[in-house]
Amino acid sequence: MTADELRNKFIEFFTSRGHVQIQGKSLLPDNDPTVLFTTAGMHPLVPYLLGQEHPAGARLVDYQKCVRTGDIDSVGDRSHLTFFEMLGNWSLGDYFKEGALAMSFEFLTAPEWLGIPLEKLGVTVFEGDENAPRDEESAAIWKKLGIPSERIAFRPKEDNWWGPAGATGPCGPDSEMFYDFGGEPCGPDCGPGCSCGKWLEIWNDVFMQYNKTADGTYEPLARKCVDTGMGIERTVTILNGLRSVYDTEIFAGIRGAVERAAAYVYGGDAEKDRSVRIICDHLRAAVFILGDPRAVSPSNVGAGYVLRRLIRRAVRHGRKLGMEGRVLPPLAELVIERFKGPYPELEENRLSIIDELAREEDKFLETLKTGEREFEKLLPQVLKNPQRVMSGRLAFRLFDTYGFPIELTEELAAENGLRVNRDEFDEAFRKHQELSRSQSAGAFKGGLVDQGEMATRYHTATHLLHQALRLVLGDHVAQKGSNITAERMRFDFSHHSPMSAGEIERVEALVNEQIRRDLPITVEVMSLEEAKEKGAIALFGEKYENQVKVYSVGDFSKEVCGGPHVTRTGGMGVFKIQKEQSSSAGVRRIRAVLE
Ligand code: SER
Repeated sequence: MTADELRNKFIEFFTSRGHVQIQGKSLLPDNDPTVLFTTAGMHPLVPYLLGQEHPAGARLVDYQKCVRTGDIDSVGDRSHLTFFEMLGNWSLGDYFKEGALAMSFEFLTAPEWLGIPLEKLGVTVFEGDENAPRDEESAAIWKKLGIPSERIAFRPKEDNWWGPAGATGPCGPDSEMFYDFGGEPCGPDCGPGCSCGKWLEIWNDVFMQYNKTADGTYEPLARKCVDTGMGIERTVTILNGLRSVYDTEIFAGIRGAVERAAAYVYGGDAEKDRSVRIICDHLRAAVFILGDPRAVSPSNVGAGYVLRRLIRRAVRHGRKLGMEGRVLPPLAELVIERFKGPYPELEENRLSIIDELAREEDKFLETLKTGEREFEKLLPQVLKNPQRVMSGRLAFRLFDTYGFPIELTEELAAENGLRVNRDEFDEAFRKHQELSRSQSAGAFKGGLVDQGEMATRYHTATHLLHQALRLVLGDHVAQKGSNITAERMRFDFSHHSPMSAGEIERVEALVNEQIRRDLPITVEVMSLEEAKEKGAIALFGEKYENQVKVYSVGDFSKEVCGGPHVTRTGGMGVFKIQKEQSSSAGVRRIRAVLE
């Protein structure tokens, strides 16, 4: 079964059981300062899990592109990926444990669906703690469905509890489904959930019943929900009797191209296989980040920094395999071809994906050249060291000043019969990281979605600002992105020249006038076509469901949006533009506050 077949089957199964298919969302979350990437299918649904009505109803299904960087150092083994696709079905106050587990069981085992033999499955359930009881209920449901007791393992919170990437938000106990590769258990405690390699998690049903608040308490949710996530790559792996996600058809094309470019045959050497896998994963992740409607460019901060790391790491492993010169663009073309069906944005953004990759690769190759030159300059002095050791501080300087990776310094050192004091380097690196972390900490505090009063006000302010800019500068103004914290807002929009002081003043005055008018904010659900007919602004390049919410601020603005918003503009504060500057070609950025 291919990934495309699995994706379609999943959607078909759940739509035939009353679910409405919704569009997966951007990889780069909007209005969420706490995470850099969408890490799970539930992420864009947080407001609905917390109680808002979803315009598409109470049973939803979708596929979602996700990026998780927590395990980036494990990428290269058989199952870890930074980018992956997640299939999900949701109940927003509709079915709960019984319905969710029965549908999961049927989809996994029924011959007309995945047909996984019962004896290859195992499950885990939550063992209970001071916050929530032992999940005997789920265990009993699994037993009734046909999973024998010895294949139902009770596990603690660190294994069987799911909350979002931010510390706060909707959460609850979960029940995970595993595939048994066979072979002997690693010990008496080996069972579903054991990390010895016998079991592979393929699906997770989360029973969202609590909202974890900023002070650490678990408030029961008014409406219990179900959030599930099935990993496409892993499931395709087991359905085809394979052991590694990198052995599936998902990666076959790109892996083959890497092998040809490196003149290496996969499977010959463990270290080289690892490099091949890292290139496959990192390049695919980079292509999806660059192909997103909210794409960022490689940079030294935030999501842009992750992107830069992914690209540079892929280049580095390419060089380890003996590839030379610019190698990423033709490989990226293959990724676009392979995934443009379910993700047409990749085709739409093909030119910018290839262009950004080529530029970043060239920049890095330049960095490598400079770094090598600087290393050569340092060499005579280091060679005088009788212990043949290069100090970690020197290696750190190469990294800090020229961006030269420590692994390459070590390689060059080894070629010259030297060793790098790695402990000293790590220490310098750690200090440097602590410093940058404390500098950026302010930007990442708070819950997953800051539903706080200030963030909500800023969210409404983006609508006022958007409309005011269109009135003052013209209808070509379109929102390109926004970022909100409880302290300020940032708003990117298309416009070709800096705003004059007069224009800034007029925009501020217009926004403040609407705040003074104390306009009501109303919301209506309608089709996207209808919204456009009524003159609502929709974000260019963003994907929407068939039914969308349209927020109106009095008679002033009408915009397709997921909310939340204040109910009236009065009392939002005084709107002040602090900065107006260029963000990228043809895009301006405003930073503003509500005082
Ligand atoms: N949110 C859960 C997970 O990511 C299920 O979708 O595992």
